[in-house]
Amino acid sequence: MSKKYEKYRHFIFVCKDKDCKKAGAREVERAFEKSIKKHQLGKSTKVFECTCTNRCKEAPVAIVNNHWMVRINPDHVDQLVQSCIDESL
Ligand code: FES
Repeated sequence: MSKKYEKYRHFIFVCKDKDCKKAGAREVERAFEKSIKKHQLGKSTKVFECTCTNRCKEAPVAIVNNHWMVRINPDHVDQLVQSCIDESL
């Protein structure tokens, strides 16, 4: 891994490809950013955009610390982040 990313403990990949975009990926990404800020995880968590993961029928899709998250409702992102972070501690 590049030294640039060594400081991060948590990695979130949000699919921003066609079907996920249509299904609300932008709102999901914003919800992740907001949750990260709320939990003061900005120094340890990095959000990336990614291309299609071939799970388009389950859009919007994200991967949080190696956990697949599908059909994500932005209103549930905060709870998802908290449970994944708790699990990784
Ligand atoms: S467009 Fe997101 S999984 Fe295919």
